[in-house]
This record gives sequence, C-alpha cells and structure tokens, in this order.
Amino acid sequence: MKAVVFDERTIARRVAELGAEITAAYPTGDLLVLGLLKGSFIFLADLVRQIERPVQVDFIVASSYGAGTTSSGNVRLLYDPATDLDGKHVLLVEDIIDTGKTLQRLMSLLGARRPRSLAICALLDKRLAPEPPAELRFVGFDAPPAFLVGYGLDHAENYRHLPFIGDLE
Ligand code: IMP
Ligand code: MG
Repeated sequence: MKAVVFDERTIARRVAELGAEITAAYPTGDLLVLGLLKGSFIFLADLVRQIERPVQVDFIVASSYGAGTTSSGNVRLLYDPATDLDGKHVLLVEDIIDTGKTLQRLMSLLGARRPRSLAICALLDKRLAPEPPAELRFVGFDAPPAFLVGYGLDHAENYRHLPFIGDLE
C-alpha cells in the first residue's frame, strides 16, 4: 500500500512559499516558466498561480534514449517549446531530481538559446545526484530514498492524479 509522505496541505503551503520566493527572485524582465512534462504538470499549475508577477508558460518534453530504468544521460526533445528563450528568465520546473542526469543535458541545450538567466525549480530532490545541477535554485522538499507517486509523479503512468505524494511501497 501507499503511505502518505507529503499531504495536500503540506504541499500547498510549500508551493505558496516557492511562489513567493520566485516572485521575489525576478523583480524585472520576462519570466518564462517551462514545465518538464509529464511529471511537473500539477505542480506547475499550482505554482504559477502563486507567482505574483507577469509570467509566460510553456512546456518541454524530453526523453532519455533507450527504455532502461536508469538514466543514460542522453536526452532528446519530443516537444520543443515554441517560445523564444532569447533574453528571458527561464525557470525549468521539474517534479523530482534523482540522478540529475536528464536535467544536466537539458541545461546545456537550453543554455545555448541565450536566455537572460536559467534556473531550475524542483518540487522534490532525492539528493542522490553526485553533482547537483548548478542551476538548481528552488526546491520544495528533500525526498526520502523511496519511490514516490502522486501530485504528478507516476509509476508506469499510474497514480499521477493523487492529490498527495505517497510512497509506493
Ligand atoms: P534523473 O534524470 O535520474 O534525475 O531522473 C529524474 C526523473 O526520474 C524524474 O523526472 C521522474 O520522472 C523520474 N523519477 C525519479 N525518481 C522518481 C520517483 O520516486 N517517483 C517517480 N518518478 C521518479
Ligand atoms: Mg519526469
């Protein structure tokens, strides 16, 4: 069964704090919030409603090469944002950081598009990455070393709809 790790109220409170942190961190300039699909979709929807400054929203779909369960480190874009990143503050929103490999590749790819700044906001961080991405600027919660589902996170595409974050075992 599933044990609740972060309940709805705890998540909502932290997302509101993150929204305030982000609002304060970007006093000027265009801000583009880029959601890494699919895992970030619920977090992003809640987060942007807590950002009290003009914001644009787009999505990015990345896929690691191969079907293995471990990140290969290669990344391919299945959906590339239509929005121009040039001169904008770009904030990439991710559900959870495990090894951080996917993000590392994405950062160099997005960085090449000359954004004004590039940062990452992750809801959860397992802190297992040997070298956490330098762009990691906003983190919701440190995550336990368990397989988490809900609030956008899936196991084989299930459980994304749960309003809380639970431990699958
Ligand atoms: P990384 O490249 O190893 O950091 O992999 C991060 C990705 O793996 C996340 O975007 C999730 O899709 C997936 N992932 C890692 N840990 C979990 C988990 O506990 N639950 C659900 N998905 C996870
Ligand atoms: Mg994911």
